[in-house]
Amino acid sequence: MSPVHQFHQDDVLVLTIDNPPVNALSPGVPEGLHAGLDVAEQDDRIWAVVIIGAGRTFVAGADIRTFDLPPEQSPDLRGVIDRLDSFGLLTVAAIHGAALGGGLELALACTFRVAVPGAQLGLPEVRLGVLPGAGGTQRLPRVVGVQKALEMMLSGNSVGAEEAETLGLIDDLIDGDLLTGAMSFARANVGNPPLPRVSKQKVKGGSPELFAAARAGLGKTHKGQYSPDLIVDLVELATHKPFAEGYAAEKKKFMQALASPQSRGLRRLFFAERAVGKVPGLSKDTPLTEINTVGIIGAGTMGGGIAMNFLNVGIPVTIVETTQEALDRGLGIIRTNYEGTVRKGRLSQAEMDRRLSLLTPTLSLDALSGADLVIEAVFEAMAVKREIFARLDAIAKPGAILASNTSTLDVNEIARSTRRPESVIGLHFFSPANVMKLLEIVRGAATSDTVLATCLSLARRINKVGVVVGVCDGFVGNRMVGRYGDEARKLAEEGAAPEQIDAAMHDLGLPMGPFEMSDMAGLDVGYLIRQHQARVAGAPKPGGWLDRLVEEGRKGQKTGGGIYDYPAGRTPVPSPHTAALLDTYRHEQAVSPRTIDADEITRRLIASLVGEGAQILDEGIALRSGDIDVIYVYGYGFPAYRGGPMGYADEVGLASVVADLERFGSVPAPLLKRLADEGKTFGEWDKERGRG
Ligand code: CAA
Repeated sequence: MSPVHQFHQDDVLVLTIDNPPVNALSPGVPEGLHAGLDVAEQDDRIWAVVIIGAGRTFVAGADIRTFDLPPEQSPDLRGVIDRLDSFGLLTVAAIHGAALGGGLELALACTFRVAVPGAQLGLPEVRLGVLPGAGGTQRLPRVVGVQKALEMMLSGNSVGAEEAETLGLIDDLIDGDLLTGAMSFARANVGNPPLPRVSKQKVKGGSPELFAAARAGLGKTHKGQYSPDLIVDLVELATHKPFAEGYAAEKKKFMQALASPQSRGLRRLFFAERAVGKVPGLSKDTPLTEINTVGIIGAGTMGGGIAMNFLNVGIPVTIVETTQEALDRGLGIIRTNYEGTVRKGRLSQAEMDRRLSLLTPTLSLDALSGADLVIEAVFEAMAVKREIFARLDAIAKPGAILASNTSTLDVNEIARSTRRPESVIGLHFFSPANVMKLLEIVRGAATSDTVLATCLSLARRINKVGVVVGVCDGFVGNRMVGRYGDEARKLAEEGAAPEQIDAAMHDLGLPMGPFEMSDMAGLDVGYLIRQHQARVAGAPKPGGWLDRLVEEGRKGQKTGGGIYDYPAGRTPVPSPHTAALLDTYRHEQAVSPRTIDADEITRRLIASLVGEGAQILDEGIALRSGDIDVIYVYGYGFPAYRGGPMGYADEVGLASVVADLERFGSVPAPLLKRLADEGKTFGEWDKERGRG
């Protein structure tokens, strides 16, 4: 059956795009629209055509899943758009939900657009590493002007129907039933020729200065990205070339962008982000626990940040500390954070007051007896956590979820200190917890499906991307970063300067290199983890020169010096002290320093991340390679346009990663070796197991 249904009422033919879930322009949709337009042309009674979407939305754009199809199998969206552009009858796009990408481009080729309040209109292609490819770069500036068009296409942000009306992007805002309103609008405008065509309008605005400023801005907002420049070029072209010329250029550049590794990476992330919520074996119908109140133990930086997530969405929080002083300090930090947002104009004073009124500070753990969810966010020591969970077990109501914000410790051991291990889970927030989008949801051996499903749903409610991971030291993110940090440390031992190592990661698009990150987190954190791991393994796991820095009291930004010096605030400056310490260390270890180039640094650091990631996949700690990428993009700033570390490895080829690991003395995980031997990618492996 065609995904486009037709019916006509008197003189109006209605074409309903019905391609769940979001009416993407998949194969069959352009054909269905053509068939409808054929009918409209052949039936003398019909004077107007209304195009509308079934279900929750108009059209969310081209079908991203078809982007890798050969051109002859790809849906011919441009064909139907071209036909609409010169169609002899009046056409109205009736928009609810979202008109995004190709959806908005389809609407822009109609003679009129109407929408219900709340509808969203936008061209988000830049987020997929491409650009509007069906006329958007040429039509949007003709309607909303160059400046607004650039703003929309470069940010990917959509505008609401009300703003769209002000901008002239829609011709009428329909209160009430959309289809009825759209048909009335069509009838009211039939017989008022000539039919308006966006492609025939003049582009509004645009000066050489404006384009120069737009290009200059890209260095900050879209550093290293390929498609934003193309968007600016095409909009500029629209200002001085006929529509047809700009339209033809757009097609060419769209294909170039589509073929780029950046677009593959961003598309991988798009689907990976949507897959993380799907846990094999966890039924969609799993009953959820209602979370109406949250208790947090510990009002330090983490506890306070975690509390803000719930306050922000209207969930009351009780926060517990052991001393009044610590409680006051924690509340002070929360208040200061909110005040900063109010000062920046992003939050009203009234809303800040409302959020703070939902917060109950207390010194009594007993106050958590009514909480639906309790999150422990205290010092990272097993003995302390076990004691807290044993006490919680006696206090918390039956069915309450008991979560630990541990970043490394064994959640199963924590769970065993209660008589209800099925209620225990890890919720690993990333610092600053009120800002970072990532939440590792650590599923213990006994964690119940209800607890897991509730935490996944809660992550969405507090605007986090929740990724389910298994129990191991450091889970996914910190375990991989540990391995990466070790490799960085070795590179420095062998002769690379710390700043050279960090620079190689900047060049890859990471905001921080491994040493800047360590200095920010505090070198003592890694030091304590190494000590802990050494104790567990019963063997020394030396941090070499890094341990020496910590033992000297150089713990990073917080002590004004670590691997780098910090003479003015948080800006790292290469440290002569660290350079001398490294020299001494190399000398003692009888290492003759060698010159190491950026290529070797990048290869080794990436191979270390990917090698550990593959091991994590092999052990079942992460469900799919895409989950690891989501963790690395949202938790560690790995550039999304590289597809995350595993996506990046797929791009360079797993055989090349294996060769790098072997060349630099590491043993690749069996899974990595096998996939490389078979010439496969992690993405293919995910798909083979039904998880892609
Ligand atoms: N193509 C294929 N599948 C799509 C899709 C698209 N354009 N948009 C969404 N989906 C799928 C999602 O993958 C998801 O599938 P699963 O249920 O199998 O996981 C499902 O639709 C629902 O999506 P969300 O979970 O994201 O639902 P939501 O309600 O949170 O958000 C949305 C809906 C705002 C439309 C969001 O999905 C979205 O932003 N989609 C992408 C829009 C986009 O980028 N459009 C431009 C496409 S490129 C283009 O059009 C090029 C061109 O110029 C021709």
